[in-house]
Amino acid sequence: MKDFVSMLNADRLFIENIISLSAFLKEKVKKGELYRPLDGFTAALIFEKPSTRTRVSFEVGVYQLGGHGVYMDTKGSQLGRGEPIKDTARVLSRYVDLIVIRTFSQKRVEELALYSDVPVINALTDEEHPCQVLADLFTIWEYKGRLEGLKVAYVGDGNNMCNSWLIGAAYVGMEFYAATPKGYEPLPFYVEKAKEIAEKTGAKIVLTNDPVEAVREADVVYTDVWASMGQEEEASKRRELFMDYQVNQELVKHAKPDYLFMHCLPAHRGEEVVEEVIEGNNSVVWEQAENRLHTQKALILKLVRKVKP
Ligand code: CP
Ligand code: NVA
Repeated sequence: MKDFVSMLNADRLFIENIISLSAFLKEKVKKGELYRPLDGFTAALIFEKPSTRTRVSFEVGVYQLGGHGVYMDTKGSQLGRGEPIKDTARVLSRYVDLIVIRTFSQKRVEELALYSDVPVINALTDEEHPCQVLADLFTIWEYKGRLEGLKVAYVGDGNNMCNSWLIGAAYVGMEFYAATPKGYEPLPFYVEKAKEIAEKTGAKIVLTNDPVEAVREADVVYTDVWASMGQEEEASKRRELFMDYQVNQELVKHAKPDYLFMHCLPAHRGEEVVEEVIEGNNSVVWEQAENRLHTQKALILKLVRKVKP
C-alpha cells in the first residue's frame, strides 16, 4: 500500500497496527521522550480547505518524528492559479517524502496519488475523512479496550465522516447505525462497500431515519456538522431539516450509561450537539482531537515503511 487516500485502503490488520503503534507513540509523548526516526524527512501539507486540528497535528507530528512539514494553501501556491494537480504531484515528489492533501473532490486526491512517486494521505475530501476515523477508532479502543461488537450511532448528515466511518466500522466488526434525514444518507458506494466487508467481518451496517433506533443501547454516539465545508449556502435550510437529529440530553438517554460522545470537531453548539452533551462526562472529544496527532504519526511511519507492524 503506497497511499492512504480512502478508508478502503485500510483493513482490519492495518487498523490494529495503527492502534498499537499509536499507543506506543502516545506514551513516548506523555513521558516526554523524543522519538525521531525520520531525521531529514519532509512532507508537503496541501490545504485547499480550512483546518485547525488536521493542519496542526500533521505539522507537529512530522516535526516530532524528526522531519519537516511544508504548508501550502491554494492562495499562496500555483494551485490557486490552476496548475494541474498531476503536475503538482510530479514536482512535489522530487522535493518531499510524503504529500498530505485536504481538498474538495476525492478524484483530485486520487489523481494526485496516481502521479506522485511518494505516499499521499487524504486529509479530508468531500467524500472521506479517513485520518479522523483512525483517531476515532484508537480513542474508542483506549476507553473500551475493544472495537468488535460495539454499537456506534452516527447521527446527522451522511457526509464524508459517515462514509469513512462506514468502512472503518465494517473492517473492525462493529455495529454501525447511521441515522440521517431522508435524502442525506451516506453515499451508496460506501454503504455497499461496507456491507460487502461486513459479510466477512461480522459487522452490522444499518441505515435509518430514526435517531432513537440508532442511539438505543449505543456504546458510542457520534455526530458532525450539518453543513460541511463547501455547503455554507445550505446551512440555514439544513438547520431546519436536521433539528430532529440534534444530539441532546433527551436523545442520549437511549444510549448505554457509559456511552462515549464523539465529534470530529469543529462543533456547532445548539445545532448538531448541545453544550450539556459535548461538555458532559461522557464526552471524549478532546482526547479524540489529541489522538489525531498520535494516529497520524503512526500512519506516516507505516506509509514510509520505517516501522514494521
Ligand atoms: N476534525 C478535523 O479534521 O478538524 P479540522 O477541520 O480543524 O482539521
Ligand atoms: N464534515 C466536516 C468535517 C470537518 C472536519 C466537513 O467536511 O466540513
